[in-house]
Amino acid sequence: MTESNARVLVFDTTLRDGEQSPGATMSLPEKLEIAALLDDMKVDIIEAGFPIASEGDFEAVAQIAKNTENAIICGLARANINDIDRCWGAVKNAKSPRIHTFIGTSPIHRKYQVRLDKNEVLEKIQTTVAHARNLCADVQWSPMDATRTEEDFLCSVVEIAIKSGASTINIPDTVGYTAPGESAKIINMLRNRVPNIDQIVIATHCHNDLGMATANALSAVEAGARQIECTINGLGERAGNTALEEVVMAMKVRNDIFPFYTNIDTKRLMSASRLVATVSGFPVQFNKAIVGKNAFAHESGIHQDGMLKHSGSFEIMSPEDIGLTDSNLVMGKHSGRAALRKKLEDLGYKIGDNKLKDLFIRFKELADRKKEVFDDDLIALMSDTATNEANDFIRLEKLEVSCGTENPQEAKLVLQVDNETLQTTSVGDGPVDAVFKAIKNLFPNESSLQLYQVHAVTEGTDAQATVSVRLEESGKITTGQSSDTDTVVASAKAYINALNKLIVRREKKAPNQTQPDLI
Ligand code: KIV
Ligand code: ZN
Repeated sequence: MTESNARVLVFDTTLRDGEQSPGATMSLPEKLEIAALLDDMKVDIIEAGFPIASEGDFEAVAQIAKNTENAIICGLARANINDIDRCWGAVKNAKSPRIHTFIGTSPIHRKYQVRLDKNEVLEKIQTTVAHARNLCADVQWSPMDATRTEEDFLCSVVEIAIKSGASTINIPDTVGYTAPGESAKIINMLRNRVPNIDQIVIATHCHNDLGMATANALSAVEAGARQIECTINGLGERAGNTALEEVVMAMKVRNDIFPFYTNIDTKRLMSASRLVATVSGFPVQFNKAIVGKNAFAHESGIHQDGMLKHSGSFEIMSPEDIGLTDSNLVMGKHSGRAALRKKLEDLGYKIGDNKLKDLFIRFKELADRKKEVFDDDLIALMSDTATNEANDFIRLEKLEVSCGTENPQEAKLVLQVDNETLQTTSVGDGPVDAVFKAIKNLFPNESSLQLYQVHAVTEGTDAQATVSVRLEESGKITTGQSSDTDTVVASAKAYINALNKLIVRREKKAPNQTQPDLI
Protein backbone atom coordinates (compact mmCIF):
# COMPACT_ATOMS: atom_id res chain seq x y z
CA MET A 1 0.00 0.00 0.00
CA THR A 2 1.36 3.44 -0.90
CA GLU A 3 1.52 6.15 1.75
CA SER A 4 -1.25 8.19 0.18
CA ASN A 5 -3.40 5.10 -0.13
CA ALA A 6 -2.98 4.37 3.56
CA ARG A 7 -4.08 7.80 4.74
CA VAL A 8 -7.51 7.87 6.39
CA LEU A 9 -9.32 11.19 6.65
CA VAL A 10 -10.95 11.97 9.99
CA PHE A 11 -14.35 13.66 9.70
CA ASP A 12 -15.54 14.81 13.11
CA THR A 13 -19.29 15.26 13.58
CA THR A 14 -19.37 16.02 17.32
CA LEU A 15 -20.89 19.42 16.60
CA ARG A 16 -23.61 17.99 14.34
CA ASP A 17 -24.50 14.34 15.02
CA GLY A 18 -23.04 14.66 18.55
CA GLU A 19 -25.06 17.74 19.35
CA GLN A 20 -28.20 15.88 18.21
CA SER A 21 -27.99 13.65 21.33
CA PRO A 22 -30.93 14.56 23.54
CA GLY A 23 -29.56 16.92 26.19
CA ALA A 24 -26.23 17.70 24.51
CA THR A 25 -27.06 21.25 23.44
CA MET A 26 -23.99 23.49 23.12
CA SER A 27 -23.76 27.27 23.13
CA LEU A 28 -21.98 29.26 20.41
CA PRO A 29 -18.80 29.94 22.47
CA GLU A 30 -18.69 26.25 23.44
CA LYS A 31 -18.98 25.17 19.79
CA LEU A 32 -16.21 27.58 18.81
CA GLU A 33 -13.98 26.20 21.55
CA ILE A 34 -14.55 22.61 20.44
CA ALA A 35 -13.98 23.48 16.76
CA ALA A 36 -10.69 25.22 17.64
CA LEU A 37 -9.51 22.16 19.57
CA LEU A 38 -10.52 19.81 16.74
CA ASP A 39 -8.62 21.97 14.27
CA ASP A 40 -5.62 22.02 16.60
CA MET A 41 -5.58 18.25 16.83
CA LYS A 42 -5.62 18.07 13.01
CA VAL A 43 -9.07 16.71 12.28
CA ASP A 44 -9.41 16.83 8.46
CA ILE A 45 -13.09 17.76 8.21
CA ILE A 46 -15.29 19.33 10.89
CA GLU A 47 -19.04 18.92 10.40
CA ALA A 48 -19.94 22.11 12.23
CA GLY A 49 -23.74 21.81 12.26
CA PHE A 50 -27.00 21.78 10.37
CA PRO A 51 -27.47 25.40 9.24
CA ILE A 52 -31.19 25.17 8.40
CA ALA A 53 -32.00 23.93 11.93
CA SER A 54 -32.05 27.37 13.54
CA GLU A 55 -30.49 30.84 13.43
CA GLY A 56 -28.16 29.65 16.19
CA ASP A 57 -26.96 26.67 14.16
CA PHE A 58 -26.43 28.83 11.09
CA GLU A 59 -24.45 31.37 13.11
CA ALA A 60 -22.31 28.67 14.73
CA VAL A 61 -21.41 27.08 11.38
CA ALA A 62 -20.71 30.51 9.83
CA GLN A 63 -18.42 31.55 12.69
CA ILE A 64 -16.57 28.24 12.76
CA ALA A 65 -16.14 28.56 8.97
CA LYS A 66 -14.65 32.03 9.39
CA ASN A 67 -12.33 31.14 12.28
CA THR A 68 -10.94 27.75 11.33
CA GLU A 69 -7.34 27.68 10.11
CA ASN A 70 -6.91 24.27 8.54
CA ALA A 71 -9.82 21.86 8.55
CA ILE A 72 -12.48 21.63 5.85
CA ILE A 73 -15.72 23.04 7.29
CA CYS A 74 -18.79 21.08 6.40
CA GLY A 75 -22.50 21.79 6.93
CA LEU A 76 -25.37 19.33 6.63
CA ALA A 77 -28.35 19.81 4.31
CA ARG A 78 -31.38 17.66 3.46
CA ALA A 79 -32.15 16.94 -0.19
CA ASN A 80 -33.80 20.25 -0.99
CA ILE A 81 -32.72 23.55 -2.46
CA ASN A 82 -33.52 25.64 0.64
CA ASP A 83 -31.40 23.50 2.93
CA ILE A 84 -28.52 23.45 0.46
CA ASP A 85 -28.61 27.23 -0.11
CA ARG A 86 -28.71 27.86 3.63
CA CYS A 87 -25.85 25.44 4.15
CA TRP A 88 -23.77 27.17 1.49
CA GLY A 89 -24.53 30.54 3.12
CA ALA A 90 -23.04 29.24 6.37
CA VAL A 91 -19.91 27.48 5.04
CA LYS A 92 -18.98 29.67 2.06
CA ASN A 93 -16.48 31.82 3.98
CA ALA A 94 -14.43 28.84 5.13
CA LYS A 95 -10.95 28.39 3.64
CA SER A 96 -12.18 24.98 2.51
CA PRO A 97 -15.99 24.67 2.53
CA ARG A 98 -17.99 21.48 2.02
CA ILE A 99 -21.72 20.80 1.59
CA HIS A 100 -22.97 17.45 2.88
CA THR A 101 -26.38 16.50 1.56
CA PHE A 102 -28.36 13.29 2.09
CA ILE A 103 -31.60 11.41 1.49
CA GLY A 104 -33.04 8.17 2.89
CA THR A 105 -32.67 5.30 0.41
CA SER A 106 -33.74 2.10 2.22
CA PRO A 107 -37.23 0.67 1.52
CA ILE A 108 -38.50 1.77 4.94
CA HIS A 109 -37.14 5.31 4.54
CA ARG A 110 -38.48 5.61 0.98
CA LYS A 111 -41.94 4.48 2.04
CA TYR A 112 -42.42 6.23 5.38
CA GLN A 113 -39.91 9.08 5.57
CA VAL A 114 -39.25 10.53 2.15
CA ARG A 115 -42.41 9.05 0.56
CA LEU A 116 -40.84 8.77 -2.88
CA ASP A 117 -40.42 5.82 -5.19
CA LYS A 118 -37.03 4.70 -6.48
CA ASN A 119 -37.12 6.85 -9.62
CA GLU A 120 -38.18 9.92 -7.68
CA VAL A 121 -35.32 9.38 -5.22
CA LEU A 122 -32.84 9.11 -8.10
CA GLU A 123 -34.21 12.30 -9.65
CA LYS A 124 -33.96 14.15 -6.38
CA ILE A 125 -30.34 13.05 -5.88
CA GLN A 126 -29.49 14.27 -9.35
CA THR A 127 -31.03 17.75 -8.88
CA THR A 128 -29.84 18.36 -5.33
CA VAL A 129 -26.27 17.12 -5.74
CA ALA A 130 -25.93 19.08 -9.01
CA HIS A 131 -27.29 22.19 -7.25
CA ALA A 132 -24.83 21.78 -4.38
CA ARG A 133 -21.98 21.20 -6.85
CA ASN A 134 -22.84 24.46 -8.64
CA LEU A 135 -22.30 26.29 -5.37
CA CYS A 136 -19.38 24.39 -3.87
CA ALA A 137 -16.49 22.43 -5.35
CA ASP A 138 -16.53 19.96 -2.46
CA VAL A 139 -19.80 18.03 -2.12
CA GLN A 140 -20.39 15.00 0.08
CA TRP A 141 -23.46 12.87 -0.39
CA SER A 142 -25.00 10.20 1.88
CA PRO A 143 -27.67 7.55 1.23
CA MET A 144 -29.26 7.54 4.67
CA ASP A 145 -29.85 4.03 6.06
CA ALA A 146 -27.45 2.71 3.39
CA THR A 147 -26.84 -0.55 5.22
CA ARG A 148 -30.55 -1.48 4.90
CA THR A 149 -30.80 -0.41 1.24
CA GLU A 150 -31.10 -3.05 -1.51
CA GLU A 151 -27.65 -3.64 -3.09
CA ASP A 152 -28.77 -2.87 -6.67
CA PHE A 153 -30.49 0.34 -5.63
CA LEU A 154 -27.53 1.38 -3.45
CA CYS A 155 -25.28 1.02 -6.52
CA SER A 156 -27.72 3.15 -8.59
CA VAL A 157 -27.94 5.98 -6.04
CA VAL A 158 -24.18 6.11 -5.51
CA GLU A 159 -23.63 6.10 -9.28
CA ILE A 160 -25.99 9.01 -9.86
CA ALA A 161 -24.53 11.01 -6.96
CA ILE A 162 -21.04 10.61 -8.44
CA LYS A 163 -22.31 11.57 -11.92
CA SER A 164 -23.99 14.66 -10.44
CA GLY A 165 -20.77 15.89 -8.85
CA ALA A 166 -20.26 14.39 -5.37
CA SER A 167 -16.60 13.93 -4.49
CA THR A 168 -17.18 12.03 -1.24
CA ILE A 169 -19.75 9.28 -0.87
CA ASN A 170 -20.58 8.46 2.72
CA ILE A 171 -22.16 5.10 3.58
CA PRO A 172 -24.10 5.57 6.83
CA ASP A 173 -25.15 2.76 9.10
CA THR A 174 -27.84 5.11 10.36
CA VAL A 175 -29.51 2.73 12.78
CA GLY A 176 -26.39 0.88 13.97
CA TYR A 177 -27.56 -2.35 12.36
CA THR A 178 -24.57 -3.68 10.47
CA ALA A 179 -21.69 -5.89 11.65
CA PRO A 180 -17.98 -5.80 10.70
CA GLY A 181 -18.15 -8.47 7.95
CA GLU A 182 -21.19 -6.88 6.33
CA SER A 183 -19.73 -3.37 6.63
CA ALA A 184 -16.71 -4.49 4.58
CA LYS A 185 -18.89 -6.44 2.14
CA ILE A 186 -20.96 -3.34 1.29
CA ILE A 187 -17.86 -1.23 0.60
CA ASN A 188 -16.31 -4.00 -1.52
CA MET A 189 -19.56 -4.46 -3.42
CA LEU A 190 -19.74 -0.74 -4.24
CA ARG A 191 -16.07 -0.64 -5.26
CA ASN A 192 -16.64 -3.57 -7.62
CA ARG A 193 -19.86 -2.41 -9.19
CA VAL A 194 -20.15 1.38 -9.31
CA PRO A 195 -18.50 3.14 -12.29
CA ASN A 196 -15.93 5.83 -11.36
CA ILE A 197 -16.06 5.02 -7.67
CA ASP A 198 -12.25 5.08 -7.70
CA GLN A 199 -12.48 8.82 -8.48
CA ILE A 200 -14.14 9.69 -5.16
CA VAL A 201 -13.49 9.16 -1.44
CA ILE A 202 -15.67 6.55 0.29
CA ALA A 203 -16.62 7.44 3.86
CA THR A 204 -18.07 5.34 6.67
CA HIS A 205 -20.52 6.70 9.28
CA CYS A 206 -21.49 4.14 11.92
CA HIS A 207 -23.89 4.31 14.84
CA ASN A 208 -23.31 2.23 17.93
CA ASP A 209 -26.70 0.67 18.64
CA LEU A 210 -25.21 -2.83 18.81
CA GLY A 211 -21.87 -1.68 20.20
CA MET A 212 -20.05 -2.30 16.89
CA ALA A 213 -19.51 1.23 15.53
CA THR A 214 -15.73 1.21 15.95
CA ALA A 215 -15.34 -2.31 14.52
CA ASN A 216 -17.66 -1.51 11.61
CA ALA A 217 -15.74 1.65 10.73
CA LEU A 218 -12.39 -0.16 10.81
CA SER A 219 -13.78 -2.96 8.62
CA ALA A 220 -15.01 -0.39 6.12
CA VAL A 221 -11.50 1.08 6.02
CA GLU A 222 -9.98 -2.36 5.45
CA ALA A 223 -12.36 -2.70 2.49
CA GLY A 224 -11.35 0.64 0.97
CA ALA A 225 -13.15 3.48 2.80
CA ARG A 226 -10.74 6.36 3.38
CA GLN A 227 -12.81 8.71 5.53
CA ILE A 228 -14.15 7.84 8.98
CA GLU A 229 -16.99 9.88 10.42
CA CYS A 230 -16.80 9.93 14.18
CA THR A 231 -17.29 11.96 17.33
CA ILE A 232 -15.32 12.67 20.48
CA ASN A 233 -16.35 10.21 23.25
CA GLY A 234 -18.65 8.55 20.69
CA LEU A 235 -21.31 11.20 21.34
CA GLY A 236 -24.27 11.06 18.93
CA GLU A 237 -27.86 10.07 18.20
CA ARG A 238 -29.14 7.25 20.50
CA ALA A 239 -26.15 4.99 21.38
CA GLY A 240 -23.81 7.41 19.61
CA ASN A 241 -21.32 7.27 16.75
CA THR A 242 -17.91 5.71 16.20
CA ALA A 243 -15.60 7.23 18.83
CA LEU A 244 -12.79 9.24 17.23
CA GLU A 245 -10.29 8.30 19.94
CA GLU A 246 -11.00 4.59 19.46
CA VAL A 247 -10.51 4.37 15.69
CA VAL A 248 -7.47 6.64 15.75
CA MET A 249 -5.75 4.68 18.54
CA ALA A 250 -6.73 1.31 17.04
CA MET A 251 -4.93 2.25 13.80
CA LYS A 252 -1.94 3.56 15.75
CA VAL A 253 -1.56 0.74 18.29
CA ARG A 254 -2.45 -2.11 15.87
CA ASN A 255 -0.80 -0.67 12.78
CA ASP A 256 0.44 -4.20 12.09
CA ILE A 257 -3.11 -5.30 11.27
CA PHE A 258 -4.58 -1.90 10.34
CA PRO A 259 -1.79 -0.51 8.13
CA PHE A 260 -3.38 2.96 7.85
CA TYR A 261 -2.66 6.30 9.42
CA THR A 262 -4.43 9.55 10.29
CA ASN A 263 -3.07 13.03 10.86
CA ILE A 264 -4.49 13.26 14.38
CA ASP A 265 -2.27 14.59 17.16
CA THR A 266 -3.19 11.89 19.65
CA LYS A 267 -1.77 13.89 22.56
CA ARG A 268 -4.85 16.09 22.32
CA LEU A 269 -7.34 13.23 22.72
CA MET A 270 -7.71 13.54 26.48
CA SER A 271 -8.30 17.31 26.36
CA ALA A 272 -10.86 16.87 23.59
CA SER A 273 -12.64 14.19 25.59
CA ARG A 274 -12.78 16.35 28.72
CA LEU A 275 -13.94 19.41 26.83
CA VAL A 276 -16.74 17.56 25.04
CA ALA A 277 -17.84 15.84 28.27
CA THR A 278 -18.01 19.22 29.99
CA VAL A 279 -19.81 21.06 27.25
CA SER A 280 -22.30 18.31 26.42
CA GLY A 281 -22.97 17.39 30.05
CA PHE A 282 -22.43 13.72 29.08
CA PRO A 283 -19.85 12.31 31.49
CA VAL A 284 -17.44 9.70 30.12
CA GLN A 285 -18.06 6.26 31.60
CA PHE A 286 -15.16 5.22 33.86
CA ASN A 287 -14.33 2.13 31.79
CA LYS A 288 -14.63 3.86 28.38
CA ALA A 289 -11.88 2.71 25.97
CA ILE A 290 -8.95 5.16 25.66
CA VAL A 291 -10.33 8.14 27.61
CA GLY A 292 -12.21 6.62 30.57
CA LYS A 293 -10.95 7.45 34.06
CA ASN A 294 -10.01 3.79 34.59
CA ALA A 295 -8.55 3.15 31.12
CA PHE A 296 -5.02 3.28 32.57
CA ALA A 297 -5.78 2.39 36.20
CA HIS A 298 -4.45 -0.88 37.59
CA GLU A 299 -6.25 -2.14 40.66
CA SER A 300 -5.45 -5.81 41.12
CA GLY A 301 -2.24 -6.86 42.87
CA ILE A 302 -1.10 -8.96 39.91
CA HIS A 303 -1.56 -6.06 37.50
CA GLN A 304 0.15 -3.55 39.82
CA ASP A 305 3.08 -5.91 40.31
CA GLY A 306 3.33 -6.45 36.54
CA MET A 307 3.25 -2.71 35.89
CA LEU A 308 6.07 -2.09 38.37
CA LYS A 309 8.22 -4.69 36.61
CA HIS A 310 7.40 -3.55 33.05
CA SER A 311 4.58 -1.25 32.00
CA GLY A 312 4.14 -3.22 28.78
CA SER A 313 2.92 -6.21 30.81
CA PHE A 314 -0.55 -4.76 31.12
CA GLU A 315 -0.51 -1.61 28.96
CA ILE A 316 -0.77 -1.65 25.17
CA MET A 317 -0.29 2.12 24.82
CA SER A 318 1.17 4.72 27.10
CA PRO A 319 -1.00 7.33 28.84
CA GLU A 320 1.26 10.05 27.40
CA ASP A 321 0.20 8.99 23.86
CA ILE A 322 -3.27 10.38 24.52
CA GLY A 323 -2.09 13.38 26.53
CA LEU A 324 -2.61 11.93 29.99
CA THR A 325 0.22 13.20 32.17
CA ASP A 326 0.97 11.79 35.54
CA SER A 327 1.53 14.89 37.62
CA ASN A 328 1.77 14.34 41.34
CA LEU A 329 1.92 17.99 42.33
CA VAL A 330 -1.00 18.67 44.67
CA MET A 331 -2.16 22.29 44.68
CA GLY A 332 -3.19 24.26 47.75
CA LYS A 333 -4.07 27.76 48.87
CA HIS A 334 -0.46 28.96 48.58
CA SER A 335 -0.17 27.91 44.94
CA GLY A 336 0.15 30.84 42.59
CA ARG A 337 -1.34 31.68 39.21
CA ALA A 338 1.69 30.40 37.26
CA ALA A 339 1.52 27.06 39.06
CA LEU A 340 -2.20 26.82 38.26
CA ARG A 341 -1.56 27.55 34.58
CA LYS A 342 1.23 24.96 34.43
CA LYS A 343 -0.91 22.37 36.17
CA LEU A 344 -3.84 22.96 33.82
CA GLU A 345 -1.51 22.74 30.82
CA ASP A 346 -0.21 19.42 32.17
CA LEU A 347 -3.81 18.26 32.34
CA GLY A 348 -4.23 19.20 28.67
CA TYR A 349 -6.10 22.50 28.96
CA LYS A 350 -5.03 25.51 26.93
CA ILE A 351 -6.40 28.61 28.62
CA GLY A 352 -6.19 32.29 27.84
CA ASP A 353 -5.36 35.02 30.38
CA ASN A 354 -9.00 36.03 30.98
CA LYS A 355 -10.13 32.51 31.67
CA LEU A 356 -7.11 31.95 33.93
CA LYS A 357 -8.03 35.05 35.93
CA ASP A 358 -11.54 33.78 36.52
CA LEU A 359 -10.36 30.25 37.27
CA PHE A 360 -7.75 31.46 39.71
CA ILE A 361 -10.44 33.20 41.79
CA ARG A 362 -12.52 30.03 41.84
CA PHE A 363 -9.45 27.92 42.58
CA LYS A 364 -8.59 30.13 45.60
CA GLU A 365 -12.16 29.87 46.90
CA LEU A 366 -11.90 26.11 46.61
CA ALA A 367 -8.45 25.97 48.21
CA ASP A 368 -9.78 27.99 51.16
CA ARG A 369 -12.39 25.34 51.80
CA LYS A 370 -10.30 22.31 50.92
CA LYS A 371 -6.72 21.75 52.11
CA GLU A 372 -5.49 19.87 49.09
CA VAL A 373 -6.70 20.47 45.56
CA PHE A 374 -6.20 17.36 43.42
CA ASP A 375 -6.13 16.95 39.63
CA ASP A 376 -9.74 15.73 39.70
CA ASP A 377 -10.77 18.88 41.60
CA LEU A 378 -9.25 21.03 38.87
CA ILE A 379 -10.89 18.96 36.14
CA ALA A 380 -14.22 19.44 37.96
CA LEU A 381 -13.53 23.18 38.17
CA MET A 382 -12.85 23.29 34.42
CA SER A 383 -15.96 21.19 33.80
CA ASP A 384 -18.22 23.42 35.86
CA THR A 385 -20.49 24.79 33.16
CA ALA A 386 -22.64 26.62 35.73
CA THR A 387 -20.33 29.57 36.01
CA ASN A 388 -22.91 32.33 36.58
CA GLU A 389 -21.97 34.13 33.36
CA ALA A 390 -23.23 37.71 33.07
CA ASN A 391 -25.26 36.77 29.98
CA ASP A 392 -27.06 33.87 31.72
CA PHE A 393 -30.82 34.47 31.94
CA ILE A 394 -30.95 33.06 35.49
CA ARG A 395 -28.12 33.60 37.99
CA LEU A 396 -27.70 32.43 41.57
CA GLU A 397 -27.17 35.31 43.99
CA LYS A 398 -27.58 33.77 47.43
CA LEU A 399 -28.73 30.55 49.01
CA GLU A 400 -29.34 29.68 52.66
CA VAL A 401 -30.63 26.26 53.60
CA SER A 402 -31.70 24.83 56.93
CA CYS A 403 -31.79 21.09 57.24
CA GLY A 404 -31.26 18.34 59.78
CA THR A 405 -33.47 16.24 62.00
CA GLU A 406 -35.94 19.03 62.70
CA ASN A 407 -38.56 19.92 60.09
CA PRO A 408 -39.11 21.83 57.95
CA GLN A 409 -36.17 21.79 55.57
CA GLU A 410 -36.19 25.28 54.20
CA ALA A 411 -34.40 27.17 51.40
CA LYS A 412 -34.09 30.96 51.23
CA LEU A 413 -33.07 31.85 47.71
CA VAL A 414 -32.14 35.00 45.84
CA LEU A 415 -31.91 34.79 42.02
CA GLN A 416 -31.30 37.25 39.22
CA VAL A 417 -33.86 36.44 36.53
CA ASP A 418 -33.40 38.50 33.38
CA ASN A 419 -31.47 41.04 35.47
CA GLU A 420 -34.23 41.40 38.06
CA THR A 421 -33.53 40.39 41.67
CA LEU A 422 -36.14 37.97 43.02
CA GLN A 423 -36.31 36.15 46.33
CA THR A 424 -38.37 33.45 47.95
CA THR A 425 -38.48 30.89 50.74
CA SER A 426 -39.62 27.30 50.15
CA VAL A 427 -39.89 24.16 52.20
CA GLY A 428 -39.43 20.64 50.87
CA ASP A 429 -38.69 17.00 51.57
CA GLY A 430 -35.03 17.56 52.22
CA PRO A 431 -32.77 20.47 51.34
CA VAL A 432 -32.44 19.74 47.61
CA ASP A 433 -36.20 19.48 47.17
CA ALA A 434 -36.65 22.79 49.03
CA VAL A 435 -34.06 24.48 46.77
CA PHE A 436 -35.56 23.11 43.54
CA LYS A 437 -39.03 24.26 44.65
CA ALA A 438 -37.65 27.73 45.39
CA ILE A 439 -36.07 27.91 41.91
CA LYS A 440 -39.37 26.85 40.34
CA ASN A 441 -41.19 29.55 42.37
CA LEU A 442 -38.94 32.26 41.02
CA PHE A 443 -38.77 30.87 37.49
CA PRO A 444 -42.02 28.97 36.87
CA ASN A 445 -41.57 26.38 34.11
CA GLU A 446 -43.08 23.14 32.83
CA SER A 447 -39.86 21.15 32.72
CA SER A 448 -39.71 17.78 34.44
CA LEU A 449 -36.65 16.46 36.25
CA GLN A 450 -35.36 13.38 34.44
CA LEU A 451 -32.12 12.84 36.29
CA TYR A 452 -30.50 14.08 39.47
CA GLN A 453 -27.07 12.59 40.08
CA VAL A 454 -24.34 13.36 42.61
CA HIS A 455 -20.82 12.02 42.66
CA ALA A 456 -17.84 12.80 44.84
CA VAL A 457 -14.92 14.18 42.82
CA THR A 458 -12.26 12.88 45.21
CA GLU A 459 -12.11 11.06 48.50
CA GLY A 460 -12.64 12.60 51.96
CA THR A 461 -15.48 14.44 53.61
CA ASP A 462 -14.26 17.75 52.22
CA ALA A 463 -14.53 16.43 48.64
CA GLN A 464 -16.34 18.43 46.00
CA ALA A 465 -19.61 17.00 44.73
CA THR A 466 -20.39 17.11 41.03
CA VAL A 467 -24.12 17.29 40.44
CA SER A 468 -25.80 16.60 37.09
CA VAL A 469 -29.40 17.60 36.44
CA ARG A 470 -31.32 16.62 33.31
CA LEU A 471 -34.55 18.44 32.44
CA GLU A 472 -37.17 17.77 29.79
CA GLU A 473 -39.65 20.27 28.38
CA SER A 474 -41.84 19.53 25.31
CA GLY A 475 -39.43 16.87 24.09
CA LYS A 476 -36.37 19.09 24.52
CA ILE A 477 -33.77 17.80 26.95
CA THR A 478 -30.92 19.68 28.57
CA THR A 479 -28.29 18.72 31.11
CA GLY A 480 -26.71 21.04 33.67
CA GLN A 481 -23.66 20.32 35.76
CA SER A 482 -21.89 21.96 38.65
CA SER A 483 -19.33 21.15 41.33
CA ASP A 484 -18.98 22.54 44.83
CA THR A 485 -17.85 21.37 48.25
CA ASP A 486 -21.45 22.10 49.29
CA THR A 487 -23.68 19.52 47.59
CA VAL A 488 -26.81 21.67 47.93
CA VAL A 489 -25.13 24.68 46.28
CA ALA A 490 -23.85 22.42 43.46
CA SER A 491 -27.42 21.10 43.05
CA ALA A 492 -28.89 24.60 42.79
CA LYS A 493 -26.25 25.67 40.25
CA ALA A 494 -26.68 22.50 38.16
CA TYR A 495 -30.46 22.99 38.05
CA ILE A 496 -30.10 26.66 37.07
CA ASN A 497 -27.54 25.68 34.43
CA ALA A 498 -29.96 23.16 32.89
CA LEU A 499 -32.72 25.81 32.90
CA ASN A 500 -30.47 28.35 31.16
CA LYS A 501 -29.72 25.78 28.45
CA LEU A 502 -33.44 25.04 28.12
CA ILE A 503 -34.10 28.72 27.48
CA VAL A 504 -31.55 28.58 24.63
CA ARG A 505 -33.16 25.41 23.26
CA ARG A 506 -36.66 26.95 23.24
CA GLU A 507 -35.46 29.13 20.35
CA LYS A 508 -34.28 26.15 18.35
CA LYS A 509 -36.70 24.14 16.23
CA ALA A 510 -35.53 20.65 15.36
CA PRO A 511 -36.07 19.91 11.67
CA ASN A 512 -37.18 16.45 10.72
CA GLN A 513 -33.94 15.20 9.23
CA THR A 514 -35.46 12.19 7.62
CA GLN A 515 -38.07 14.05 5.61
CA PRO A 516 -36.80 16.28 2.86
CA ASP A 517 -39.10 19.17 2.01
CA LEU A 518 -40.14 19.15 -1.61
CA ILE A 519 -38.11 21.38 -3.87
O1 KIV B 1 -26.70 8.59 10.60
C1 KIV B 1 -26.91 9.16 9.52
O2 KIV B 1 -27.41 8.59 8.54
C2 KIV B 1 -26.56 10.58 9.43
C3 KIV B 1 -26.63 11.18 8.07
C4 KIV B 1 -27.15 12.56 8.10
C5 KIV B 1 -25.30 11.08 7.42
O3 KIV B 1 -26.16 11.18 10.40
ZN1 ZN C 1 -25.57 9.77 12.03
